[in-house]
Amino acid sequence: MPANGPQREALREKGQFWTPEWIADAMVTYALDGGYNDLLDPAVGLGAFFHAARRIEAEQGRAIGLHGFEIDPAVVADAARKGLRADDLNCIIVRDFVLQPPQTSYGAIVANPPYIRHHRLPQETKRQLKQIGATTFGAALDGRAGLHIYFLVRALQILKEGGRLSFIMPADTCEGVFSPILWNWIANNFRLDAVVTFAPEATPFPGVDTNPMIFMIANERPEKTFKWVKCLNSHPNALMDWVRSGSQTGDIDIRERDLEEGLSTGFSRPPQASRQVAIRTLGDYAEVIRGIATGANNFFFLTKKQLDSLRIPSEFIVHSIGRTRDITESEISRKALDDLEIQGKPTFLLSLDSRPFDQFPSSVQEYLMQGVLQGVHRRPLIATRNPWYKTETRMPPPFLFAYLGRRSSRFIYNKERTVPLSCFHCVYPRSNDAEFTERLWTILRHPDTVANLSLVGKSYGSGAIKVEPRALERLPLPNHVVASSGIDQAGYPVQHRF
Ligand SMILES: C[S@@+](CC[C@H](N)C(=O)[O-])C[C@H]1O[C@@H](n2cnc3c(N)ncnc32)[C@H](O)[C@@H]1O
Repeated sequence: MPANGPQREALREKGQFWTPEWIADAMVTYALDGGYNDLLDPAVGLGAFFHAARRIEAEQGRAIGLHGFEIDPAVVADAARKGLRADDLNCIIVRDFVLQPPQTSYGAIVANPPYIRHHRLPQETKRQLKQIGATTFGAALDGRAGLHIYFLVRALQILKEGGRLSFIMPADTCEGVFSPILWNWIANNFRLDAVVTFAPEATPFPGVDTNPMIFMIANERPEKTFKWVKCLNSHPNALMDWVRSGSQTGDIDIRERDLEEGLSTGFSRPPQASRQVAIRTLGDYAEVIRGIATGANNFFFLTKKQLDSLRIPSEFIVHSIGRTRDITESEISRKALDDLEIQGKPTFLLSLDSRPFDQFPSSVQEYLMQGVLQGVHRRPLIATRNPWYKTETRMPPPFLFAYLGRRSSRFIYNKERTVPLSCFHCVYPRSNDAEFTERLWTILRHPDTVANLSLVGKSYGSGAIKVEPRALERLPLPNHVVASSGIDQAGYPVQHRF
C-alpha cells in the first residue's frame, strides 16, 4: 500500500495495492473454514493471501493446495524476491483471470482484485466485460462497473458447492448504478455470510482514497440475514478473533442484519430499519446542477491582483468560489470573500460569451492570446467548446453543496451569491420567495438532513462522501425536520422549476 504520487499512479494502472497481513489472515481463515483445502487467489500480486494460507496451514496442521492467477510477470518475479516459496510460485498461472478464466472450480477463493476504474480499461476489454454481464445477468452491467466487479462474478461462477469466497473490494461494489443487478444475483444464488466495513481510523489502506469492504459469501442456499461488521480501530486481532470464534471485542461492532433491508439500503451503509420513510426529498424543494467546469482553473479563475494587472472590464468577470477548502463556515459572507482576496486566493471567474475574438476589448484579446500560447485551447474539455473561450454560465445559486472535500460534505448558504466551480453543486430552491429559501435553509443545515447524505452518496477514503446532482435531489429529508421548518404549511409552490 505505501505508495505515493507517480508511483501510486503507476500502481493504479494495474490495480496493484497489497493487502495487509491482519486482513489477509482473516479473509483466508473464513474461506478455508468451509472445509475445502484448495485455495484460489485470482490476483496473486506479491502473494499476501498465499503467505496467510501457509501461516494458517501451519497453525491448523492441514495441507492447503494453492492456486493463483496474476497478469503481470514482473510482480510474480517480485513475489519470488520477497519470499514466496518456489513451489507456491509454480502454482501461479500468468494470465488474465477475467478474460481467460479457469475451467476448474475451487472450494476457497480469496482476492483483493485490481481496482481499475472503467475509464482506464481499453475499449476491447470493456466490450468483453459487457459480454460477461450479458451472459450472467441477461443484460450488460452499466459501463461504470470496474474490472473488480467482473473478478467477483467470475470467481463466484467457479466456487464449488459449499465453498467460500472472501473479497476485499471498494465500496462502489454496492453503491454503483450496476449494484442492484449484481447484488440481487448474488443474494438469489449464494449465501451472504458477512460484510465487513471499516471506520476511517481502521482502514486497511491508509492514505488511499477508497472505502474498502470485505464480502464473505458461501455457495450455499441463501438466508434471510447476514452479519454486518464494522472495524472501529485498526486492531489486528479483533477481526481475526471474530472470524475464528465469533467473539466480539470493543474494536468491532457486529450486527445481524436483514438481507432485504441491506439490499435496499446498500451494504456500505448502516442499517436503516428503525428510520421512518421520508415523505420528502430535496428534489421536491430544489433543483441541483453541478458548478461550472472551466477546464483550466489556473487560466479562468483569477485573483484580484491578476485582475487588476490584466485590466479586464468587470462585465467579463463574475464573483466565484472554486475550492471547498476556501469555505470553512456554513455561509459565504462578504467578509469571507474579502479574506480570500487578502490572502491572494482566486475569487473571480473570467466569464466570456461566444462573440468573435476581435469583438472583445483589447485587454481580453491579449489574455486569450496568452492562453493560446500556453495551449489552454487544446485542453480536453476546452477543445470541445466553440469558441474555446466560451465559459459555462450559472445563475448564482442561493445554496451550494460541497460534495467531496476534506471537510465532510455539507450545504453552504451562498449569501454573497457567488457562482461556484465544479467542486460544488448549485442548489436552486423551486421558489424565489425569500421566506421559502430561509425555511429550506433550516432543513439543509439540520444535522439529521446531513446525516442522510450517506444514503445517497458514494463513500471514499477517510469518510468522505461524494454525491452527484441527481442523487442529491433524491436526498431523503427527515420528516420531523421538514415539519418543524414549516415549509409545507406555508403553501409555497413546490413544483415550480427555478
Ligand atoms: C490489488 S492487487 C492484490 C494483490 C494481492 N493478492 C494482495 O492482496 O496483496 C491486484 C493484482 O491483480 C493483478 N491483476 C490485474 N489485472 C489482472 C487480471 N486481469 N488477471 C489477473 N491478475 C490481474 C495486478 O497485477 C495485481 O498484482
